[in-house]
Amino acid sequence: MLTAPTSTLLAARTLSRPPALGTRPLPSRVGRYLLFDHVGRGGMADIYLARVETELGGSRRVIVKEVLPKHAENSVFSAMLVAEAKLAAGLSHANVVTVEDLGREGGALYIAMEYVEGFDLRELCRRCSQAGVPLPIEFSLFMVMETLRGLDYAHRKKLVHRDVSPSNVLISFEGEVKICDFGIARANAESELDEETVRGKAGYMSPEHARGGDVDARADVYAAGIILWELLSGRRYYRAAQGEKLIDVARRAEQKPLISRGLPKEKELHNIVYRALEIDREVRYQTAGAMLRDLEAYATRSGQYTSPLRFGEWLMERFGAEIVELRRTRERAAWGLTHKALPRVMLPEGSPIPPPVAPVEIRKTGTFAKVAIARKAKATARAWVAYLLAVAAATVMAIWCALSTGSG
Ligand SMILES: Nc1ncnc2c1ncn2[C@@H]1O[C@H](COP(=O)(O)OP(=O)(O)OP(=O)(O)O)[C@@H](O)[C@H]1O
Ligand SMILES: [Mg+2]
Repeated sequence: MLTAPTSTLLAARTLSRPPALGTRPLPSRVGRYLLFDHVGRGGMADIYLARVETELGGSRRVIVKEVLPKHAENSVFSAMLVAEAKLAAGLSHANVVTVEDLGREGGALYIAMEYVEGFDLRELCRRCSQAGVPLPIEFSLFMVMETLRGLDYAHRKKLVHRDVSPSNVLISFEGEVKICDFGIARANAESELDEETVRGKAGYMSPEHARGGDVDARADVYAAGIILWELLSGRRYYRAAQGEKLIDVARRAEQKPLISRGLPKEKELHNIVYRALEIDREVRYQTAGAMLRDLEAYATRSGQYTSPLRFGEWLMERFGAEIVELRRTRERAAWGLTHKALPRVMLPEGSPIPPPVAPVEIRKTGTFAKVAIARKAKATARAWVAYLLAVAAATVMAIWCALSTGSG
């Protein structure tokens, strides 16, 4: 199997943000959603895993992205975000994360979206690097092709992403690839967020975007080109020298050659990447679909066409233990929701109180069946210890009484 390097450099630089805790105590209710686990924090929002009751009485897990207070208070940003999220909610495609809801409650502004159980591409690269697992080229091509498929669909609906980056490419454990956060970058751009937030976005910016020009679908094609370049080389495309700003590197956007890895028909693949990375967007691929067609043709001709099934199997093979651990952590958080943490729920007036039993799917899972059995066994053991102590105490008392009667 052909593989590409996923160097520590790529992983470390892509994961420089430290993990943060959410701003709310959990569990916590926002609108229809019961937030029970903090998944992460991006440049503008906290990401929570939440549960929502369905109309027929069941429940589903969703992601609630709560805009950080400093941005939610920015009226231009909020208005743009609402407008863009409404457009994004109209997208329905296997390679695009579905936006389900948009709401405001008190000062909080949030977007509810499909939960993709898995890693984002940045996280996948980090894990590959940490475990010394090379990422097979066929899966790198697959992830970029699936991203392009989602982008092409959105572009045909007249929506440009503007922030295509590894952290916005979500990979499910089933081997699906979905792009998230459509429209959010536009709200960022229009509302002149703080410099730190904007700077964090420069790594995958097209030169026209970095130079402050207008941005169209070809900027997303360029970002997909950077992602493919990085996956093939295991290095960051834009690298700032000491004291230099990454946005200035993006403005120059000097094209960097790819090193030969001995792949079949490699020149053909490199030409696709170079065409996506053309500084002049008139010379670049004009659509995500055009780049996708070339990549598909290359993958087929070079025998590197794969499927979500094979990708999912590979993920499970390589990261099975971590996948199970992640699922357990999330299930534990959901379990706590109904079993011990309820008093901490901040329920607004009139909200229905969640049922005091674990959701059916949790009660049925092996993990929780095992937890329940272990708890029952502990309780039984405790009862036995108490019983034996009582018997021993009674025996000691009886002997003591008999001895004191005899001696009296
Ligand atoms: N729908 C989702 N399903 C599962 N995980 C998600 C989902 N959306 C986001 N995440 C996770 O939450 C993390 C943080 O997302 P967020 O979009 O806030 O930040 P980011 O992508 O790192 O930065 P940016 O502010 O540039 O978008 C993501 O990297 C991803 O791992
Ligand atoms: Mg994001």
